[in-house]
Amino acid sequence: MVMDGNGRWAQRQGKPRSHGHQAGSEALKRAVERILFHGIGHMTVYAFSSENWSRPSIEVKQLLDLFMKALNREVRELNDHEVCIRFVGDRSAFSRPLRDGMKRAEKITRNNRKLILNVAVNYGGRADITQAARQLATAVQSGQLSPADINEDLFDRHLSLHDDPAPDLLIRTGGEKRLSNFLLWQLAYTELHFSDVLWPDFDAEHVDAALHDFASRDRRFGGLSRVQSA
Ligand code: FPP
Repeated sequence: MVMDGNGRWAQRQGKPRSHGHQAGSEALKRAVERILFHGIGHMTVYAFSSENWSRPSIEVKQLLDLFMKALNREVRELNDHEVCIRFVGDRSAFSRPLRDGMKRAEKITRNNRKLILNVAVNYGGRADITQAARQLATAVQSGQLSPADINEDLFDRHLSLHDDPAPDLLIRTGGEKRLSNFLLWQLAYTELHFSDVLWPDFDAEHVDAALHDFASRDRRFGGLSRVQSA
């Protein structure tokens, strides 16, 4: 999920952007509940891109404070719902308390299997691909690996979401129709659903509409559709 539109939602009400992010965190909670209701096992949300640092420092601070508060407030409930939380992205730029909070949430929820909830923070798809290439290059340089051994499976195992299946569906709210450097490798055959709804307004009915849209797609993965091949 690319949760876009918090700022515009707030501005339309004459409120500060932080108000939109606050409402966005409530929308995320509702979306997780609905995803659990449908028995979906994996969900990845784009909470903070590596490009988001270029926002005004006050907004960055408010977003990071919000993550901290949400972590402290929601971990127990997520754990009760058997949700396993994992953070993907470069955390080294975050404060010590935030990094500790992330580690703690991962530790508490690590054995849960109803839903794997990946939260992408300071994440960029290109950076992820680049670090995988660097790891493989280092292994080749040290003689542990031959270039001929590098294939898509091996490459995939060096990416940050290597434990998860490729996403079936991408949902982006807020009206923009782009990927914004999210899961570039993993989205190769993913179905895309773009919604004009601003993220804080995204509700159970919108999750259902996206899933309904997904169910109507003819997924061919480069092959022929069932009708064509019959
Ligand atoms: C995009 O809206 C949203 C973000 C950059 C942050 C996403 C964060 C949340 C949904 C808050 C909750 C998250 C967690 C993990 C507690 P935007 O600010 O780009 O909106 P705009 O396009 O209208 O300006």
